[in-house]
Amino acid sequence: MTADNENELYKIKKLHPDAKVVIRIRCDAEVAQCQLGMKFGCDPIYEAPNLLRLSRVLGLNVIGISFHVGSGCQDPPVFRRAIRHCKTLFDLATDLGFKLYLLDIGGGYPGNKGTSIDKIADVVNKALDEYFNTDAVHVIAEPGRFYVASAFTLATSIHSKRSVRGNENSPNTITHNMYYINDGVYGSFNCLLYDHQHVTPIPLKKGCGKMIPSSIWGPTCDGLDQVVENMLLHEMELGDWIIFENMGAYTLPVASSFNGFPVPKVHIVADESIWLLLKNALPLTADHFVVGNTPANLRLGLDIGGTDTNAWRNPNIELTSTEILVDGTNTPSSFIFEYVEIDPLN
Ligand SMILES: Cc1ncc(COP(=O)(O)O)c(C=O)c1O
Repeated sequence: MTADNENELYKIKKLHPDAKVVIRIRCDAEVAQCQLGMKFGCDPIYEAPNLLRLSRVLGLNVIGISFHVGSGCQDPPVFRRAIRHCKTLFDLATDLGFKLYLLDIGGGYPGNKGTSIDKIADVVNKALDEYFNTDAVHVIAEPGRFYVASAFTLATSIHSKRSVRGNENSPNTITHNMYYINDGVYGSFNCLLYDHQHVTPIPLKKGCGKMIPSSIWGPTCDGLDQVVENMLLHEMELGDWIIFENMGAYTLPVASSFNGFPVPKVHIVADESIWLLLKNALPLTADHFVVGNTPANLRLGLDIGGTDTNAWRNPNIELTSTEILVDGTNTPSSFIFEYVEIDPLN
């Protein structure tokens, strides 16, 4: 277990005196999407040595040092600074009689499409060669967004639209379009608030004509529920889809169904080669998926903006946001594997 203060060490001594303890230090990236150092990690120079000494006095089993430079790190050299601090602490720990063997270099690695881990990897590898050129130390990392950020693409549909007209001199000119979509900051876009993300809307249909200043809003009652503040977009209509890439990190797990709007459903889309690779990998088996090219419950394009305007006047038509209809004309080209819960995975 990891500790960065004296109280934790006393607690560990009382409750789990034989635990393997890792001391977490603070070494912040100068630029990071989400800083973590204000909450976690002790100062490597003034505090960590004292925690090592206290651990010695308490008879705790300290086995390593960890850090997290901040999530979405854009300061690769910070890894060298952090690893150097760890080396100093490993040496001090040896002098105190510990045998440290774990170096945990945390997370912070980029995961969006088009980003690369190469720069950070280069800094880390060089620093490890310089400070930890030994087989006696296990180096681990805790990548989060690196694995998942680009794995999820969010497809939202426009269910309402408000066109703001000009002033009395040009009452017919549309000066701004407000689009209301079926996901917002209480759902997947909580990442705007909690993960300091900037999202880029990609209309599924290629637009044409004049670009119009536009904003995009979530479905809830809250005025804060805004996804895109102001951006030039081609005119879109009800039922059109807006795609957001890189929605895999710090999005769905934090989403709520506030106001009764369900969190998005995840559809697994993979080509056949990926499927063949995955299908026997535990814990997922073919039984967990409905496999096919045209799943009955998925289509690209809800017809809520469609030509049959009478449909909207028919009180018998039930509008449920969970219902997804089939559109035979717009068949997805990739295989789609729909994950279905059977027995709990274990
Ligand atoms: C202790 C710890 N490890 C790893 C991670 C993953 O970080 P990232 O997504 O930046 O790689 C986090 C994220 O908050 C964390 O708190």
